[in-house]
Amino acid sequence: MSVNTHAHITSWVIAIILFVVAATILNKAGKEKSQKIVKMILRLFYLFVLVTGALLLFGGVEINGEYIGKAVLGLLVIGFMEMILARGAKGKPNGVFWALLIVFIILTIALGMRLPLGIWAA
Ligand code: HEM
Repeated sequence: MSVNTHAHITSWVIAIILFVVAATILNKAGKEKSQKIVKMILRLFYLFVLVTGALLLFGGVEINGEYIGKAVLGLLVIGFMEMILARGAKGKPNGVFWALLIVFIILTIALGMRLPLGIWAA
């Protein structure tokens, strides 16, 4: 466990909350201006997730397949979030992407928790 693990967790928890607000409430309400602002803040949090994730990755662990898998899953989560936001803004259906996003979030969190730096690891 490290300060950075906490920073990483805080960053993706806030990113997920901002994403849900932008993709659901603000999108349905058609509040374009508020959505734009939330999306801008969300992108800042992607950056925090990426930087804190990269610091964990290159902070002295032995990078193996599981770590690479963790980083790829994390990137996929961000990718799906952006896809849902882009399609949602155009009014396109997003059901499949929401399902995939939820699966990837669960896998990312499960693998993150399994890996040794975690606050849940033994
Ligand atoms: C929204 C996307 C992401 C989610 C939901 C997520 C989730 C998590 C979770 C739950 C942990 C474990 C923390 C703990 O047990 O205390 C973790 C750790 C970690 N994450 Fe992420 N992460 C995301 C994105 C990323 C990205 C993009 C990278 C790489 C650039 C990354 C790299 C890492 C690394 C290296 C660890 C440390 C693993 C360990 O040894 O415990 N994560 N992440």
